[in-house]
Amino acid sequence: MLRASANVLSFSLGLMNLRQVVLSRVDQYLHSCPSADTAEVFAQHCQDILGVPATTGTNMTASFSHLAGGYDGQYYSYLWSEVYSMDIFFSRFKKEGIMNPKVGKEYRRVILEAGGSVDGMDMLKSFLRREPHQDAFFQCKGLTTAQETKTA
Ligand SMILES: *[C@@H]1O[C@H](CO)[C@@H](O)[C@H](O)[C@H]1NC(C)=O
Repeated sequence: MLRASANVLSFSLGLMNLRQVVLSRVDQYLHSCPSADTAEVFAQHCQDILGVPATTGTNMTASFSHLAGGYDGQYYSYLWSEVYSMDIFFSRFKKEGIMNPKVGKEYRRVILEAGGSVDGMDMLKSFLRREPHQDAFFQCKGLTTAQETKTA
């Protein structure tokens, strides 16, 4: 029973993440061609990536406001931000302690206080004390094990 529940959870998480990949790819596609049948583009990506057909008679892109609401070709940043946030969590907070005041103060100083005055990648590298990587992201998504995750 527990194993079946874990499998359902894993399947659901996989589906949710793949859906984010579909939406990111549709967004990228539509922003790199002069014209397209948006409903058809979505249906094609759904089938190719999810292996699930889009519901006939619907037009998801007609209500997908992220396509043109300021994100414009950057919908992938939803998943990408998880790469960075999980890297930050695993490499600093999980390792040095979630309630560690030294890490919290450094996070406040390097990330929160700097805000938009410093390039995001510079803030990230400064807090991580290295280049970011995606190991923690893959582990959180159940794609790798803790042993395969390097947080140093
Ligand atoms: C889907 O919605 C888009 C955006 O509103 C529209 O341009 C397109 O014609 C629609 N396609 C269909 C098949 O309804």
